[in-house]
Amino acid sequence: VWVGKRSELPRKYKSAKKINAKGRMVLPGLVDSHTHLVFAGDRSREFEMRLAGQSYQDIAKSGGGIVRTMGATRKASESELLETARERLQVFLKQGVTTVEIKTGYGLDFESEKKCLKVIDRLRREGPPTVMATLLAAHAIPPEFQGRKHEYTKIVATDWLPKLKKYCDFVDMFIDDGYFDIADAEVLLSQAQKLKIPIKLHADELKLTGGTDMACKFKALSADHLLQITQREIDLLSRSEVTATLLPTTAFFLKTTHGPARRLLSGGARVALASDFNPGTSPTQDISVVAAFGALQMGMRTEEVIAAITLNGAYALVLEKQKGALLPGYDADFIMMESESVARLFYEFGQVHRHLSVFCRGKFHGT
Ligand code: NIG
Ligand code: FE
Repeated sequence: VWVGKRSELPRKYKSAKKINAKGRMVLPGLVDSHTHLVFAGDRSREFEMRLAGQSYQDIAKSGGGIVRTMGATRKASESELLETARERLQVFLKQGVTTVEIKTGYGLDFESEKKCLKVIDRLRREGPPTVMATLLAAHAIPPEFQGRKHEYTKIVATDWLPKLKKYCDFVDMFIDDGYFDIADAEVLLSQAQKLKIPIKLHADELKLTGGTDMACKFKALSADHLLQITQREIDLLSRSEVTATLLPTTAFFLKTTHGPARRLLSGGARVALASDFNPGTSPTQDISVVAAFGALQMGMRTEEVIAAITLNGAYALVLEKQKGALLPGYDADFIMMESESVARLFYEFGQVHRHLSVFCRGKFHGT
């Protein structure tokens, strides 16, 4: 309700409950605006295949990849999925992540996508982190639609989307080589627009296939990945309101160059960083590593990194008036850290900050 100097605290708040930060730094709770944390199974053997020289796309073509996780996720019960997802959410919370976006996309049939949305809905109701739900039914072509990609897209758009609308905040789609193309995007995204569901997109991750153009055309909240974009797409994003969400642990894991953070920032684009936590291309949940890559490998300054995992992440979820900043009217999601610099959040990368206290909506949640 109010932020400022102690000496200027309005009288009416003087009797409010006090939390002594003991000289620690107070930061907004972190926002992870891109995760796929509801899934079952394990893909470490595929990792080994990649280390032996196979590409992510080759593995996907031979029955691995997203479709493999789909098999395990379809088999898992709602309560099994809930249990692992809940644990993963706690892993984020311990690091100070108080808002998490979660995508479906490993069900790929109506009932299984719905099952995953219900798991996300349960997590949302349980809290304490704020959870946002994204339908990513267009994540891969399920085996029963092999060779009938456009048909699958059409069913997702005209049948599933209206039925699942009440469970999801956003719609996402994997527009890429071997996945969905811009013709599919036109079908699904125009339907999302008609139903007034905000759009987020996996764009230009593996190849440049028009995902960024679609994000700008359909006024998406965010275009995510962007590993393959050129100056043309950088200019498009810079002129738009679309948040450019970069996922550095994915680039690292795929052994590709990072997204062009510096050039996007100098163009004036809004840049967010997120974990992309998923079993295929970013199996880590460590937000400090995400931030450290932003700083050390993408040339982002400390304040740009912090903005990218707070307010800019909130923009990518239409939460910029509630999350990611410590301002009157915002939710009191914040972390306290014993440190001489905010950079300690990622300077000590790869470990949970020992002196971090986490608060969601003003309530203490540990450490
Ligand atoms: O964000 N790009 C699409 N989806 C994930 C990969 C999912 C998987 O391999 O299971 C990603 O990189
Ligand atoms: Fe992703």
